[in-house]
Amino acid sequence: MQNQKKKVILSGIQPSGVIHLGNYFGAMKQYVDLQDTSINYFFIANFHALTTLRNPQELQFNTLDIARHYLAIGLDPDKCALFLQSDVPEVCELSWYLSIITPLGLLERCHSYKDKLAKGFSPEHGLFAYPILMAADILMYEPDFVPVGKDQKQHVEVARDIAIKFNNTFGNIMKIPEVMIKESTAVVPGIDGQKMSKSYGNFISFLSDEKTIKKQVMSIVTNSTAVEEPKDPAQCNVFALYKLFAQPDEIISLQDRYVKGGLGYGEAKKILLAKLLDYFAESRVRYNQLKADDQYVKDVLKKGADKAREQADSFMIKVRNAVGIVRSN
Ligand code: ADP
Ligand code: TRP
Repeated sequence: MQNQKKKVILSGIQPSGVIHLGNYFGAMKQYVDLQDTSINYFFIANFHALTTLRNPQELQFNTLDIARHYLAIGLDPDKCALFLQSDVPEVCELSWYLSIITPLGLLERCHSYKDKLAKGFSPEHGLFAYPILMAADILMYEPDFVPVGKDQKQHVEVARDIAIKFNNTFGNIMKIPEVMIKESTAVVPGIDGQKMSKSYGNFISFLSDEKTIKKQVMSIVTNSTAVEEPKDPAQCNVFALYKLFAQPDEIISLQDRYVKGGLGYGEAKKILLAKLLDYFAESRVRYNQLKADDQYVKDVLKKGADKAREQADSFMIKVRNAVGIVRSN
């Protein structure tokens, strides 16, 4: 009864590379913050990752590693369905029903496809049709909200457009979801000040070993202002990242030190590093425990898949009926 009032939340992350601070603050942290008050579906988009990753061992490793990250940062498998996209293969069937009504122009406008081509990926159909599979991921679970970083906003809007077209064609089956973006962390900068991304090599991971994280933090690009000179915190990548972790009084105090002069970028990076390591200390312990227990992680994913399939099975019956697909059993 109480569940009926709860909003449904769904989101996914591709296992296409190292999980970084942009993923955490842009998306994953919201999942943890929402889990107590919503019905939650969080999944690992391994079908999507195949559009850019063609190394089976790496894909397998990344898949479990995202699950470990989800659990280490505090997702509670009893409060959400944490599952693999590939454990609900009906999503590919739904993707087909959506494909047949998706106008090409809608896909041609997608920034993400154009960005990938600009980065040298081949113009393959899977990459082009990526937003349709993502629409299927979303619509299958009838969410109220889809929490993502700003770069995924357009994809959620495409899912809405496809849902509306489907409803106009086949009747009112698809629930229209809302995108949910936390503006303060919608675009986390990387070590070079551009959007942090796995594929730009400008990321800071947060559960790797300390040496790796230290190297990433120490590589943050800064300007050449000398130690004793005043500095503008608003122009500094180190400060931008520090703001994500620190309390308001800590932010003001570091800001004062920038403005006064006498603070070198090396010291600012050390302050950031200490904050980061402290912030994720518990998660890192948990992550290392999970690394030694693949079976537990797989059990969680299996339980999550069972919950996800329950929704998918009943939803697909409605969809097949609406489009006129008959099954022999
Ligand atoms: P990447 O750009 O590293 O490949 P993904 O596309 O897999 O990251 O993103 C997974 C989730 O993390 C999405 O919701 C995305 O919007 C969010 N995200 C990724 N990078 C950032 C960033 N730099 N700032 C804010 N959110 C981000
Ligand atoms: N495209 C998303 C990303 O790169 C991952 C994703 C796939 C997703 N399906 C989704 C996100 C459905 C939210 C909802 O981050």
